[in-house]
Amino acid sequence: MKISLKINGVLHEVEVEPRKLLVHLLRDLGYKSVKVGCDTATCGVCTVLLNGRPVKSCNLLAVQTDGAEIMTVEHNEMESLRVSFKKHHASQCGYCTSAMLTIAYYLKKTAKTREEIVEGLSGVLCRCTGYQNIIEAI
Ligand code: FES
Ligand code: FES
Repeated sequence: MKISLKINGVLHEVEVEPRKLLVHLLRDLGYKSVKVGCDTATCGVCTVLLNGRPVKSCNLLAVQTDGAEIMTVEHNEMESLRVSFKKHHASQCGYCTSAMLTIAYYLKKTAKTREEIVEGLSGVLCRCTGYQNIIEAI
């Protein structure tokens, strides 16, 4: 099936199998920042923004995103958060970091309080940082 979607502002028209997951399509297209962890919609490391809202890309079929806009951590608008994460030592092994930055970008626009940031981060698991430096970075 042929679908078209915008990823970080770039239009892609691709042929996909109906069963292909969005996470695998994104990685096949070169967006390797999007990680696969649990593959069962639990860990959150596959998180991307779909039409501005965070989704777990292992939990969506690529064909469901026909016509959508996807944002990953490679997007230029993430740069100030990338700098802030570095400054606050908000990454250790780095496996969750792309997803954390993506959620952080969303929370910067939507969260009004520190509690909302904490709640918003709960969808992505981090085994290393203890979350405090990530919260400070945001
Ligand atoms: S890979 Fe774990 S939630 Fe998608
Ligand atoms: S930095 Fe290692 S899992 Fe988050």
